Amino acid sequence: MSLENMVIPEHVAVILDGNGRWAKKRGLPRAMGHKAGCETLEKMVRVASDVGIRYFTVYGFSTENWKRSEEEVGALMQLFRYYMVRLLKIASANNVRVKMIGEKSRFAPDIIKGIDNLVEKTRDNTGMTFIIAINYGGRDEILRAAKKLAGVYQESGADIRSVDEAEFASYLDTAGIPDPDLMIRTSGEMRLSNYLLWQLAYSEFYITDCLWPDFNQEELEKAILAYNSRERRFGGR
Ligand code: IPE
Ligand code: IPE
Ligand code: MG
Repeated sequence: MSLENMVIPEHVAVILDGNGRWAKKRGLPRAMGHKAGCETLEKMVRVASDVGIRYFTVYGFSTENWKRSEEEVGALMQLFRYYMVRLLKIASANNVRVKMIGEKSRFAPDIIKGIDNLVEKTRDNTGMTFIIAINYGGRDEILRAAKKLAGVYQESGADIRSVDEAEFASYLDTAGIPDPDLMIRTSGEMRLSNYLLWQLAYSEFYITDCLWPDFNQEELEKAILAYNSRERRFGGR
């Protein structure tokens, strides 16, 4: 497959789903599925950057995922620790800038430090921006933005009724990042699971049965091909 003459979406947002099912199919513990998923993520950061995507956002852990078993959450935290270090190497080698969206204060101090380090050390990179959504929930993000905005207006005494969409969006975690053009969900589920509720308003959706650990360059190219066949609309005509 070739992406020649294809429009490359500027911002691709992924819901990486299916790690558990991938492991189950092989009779492995769920944690092994997450490990395989991290390896895929590592590869896909490089692939997305090579393909020419400018912003690549990946849903790694939702505000609801804390409800999973202590064992699974613990395994995921260990993987964050390990892959954060590896990600720094990959980002540095590929001129990738890393950002995080979500509410990081719920993580252990060393994980918070790791995230800050990753963001800090890659902030001047000029290639693709890789945005990792962890302890992220669209509703939580919107609520935090509303509270921040209310605080600023309360302080200044300005009239909050003058706020427009652009100003509101500047309080979201994704401030300064264009909305996704294409949203990919792996593993076939037809729902948003609290992902980028504000930002996906006019994105094209591509849902594949491919389980995340099996996702690769070819699967991404299929999604980009499908995107190219869409007639984008933004409500006008
Ligand atoms: C996605 O895989 C990774 C996270 C949500 C952390 P899942 O763990 O949701 O995999 P399935 O949906 O059970 O297959
Ligand atoms: C969405 O996947 C969250 C992430 C990919 C991090 P889930 O597997 O948690 O979502 P549901 O439970 O299928 O809606
Ligand atoms: Mg899932």
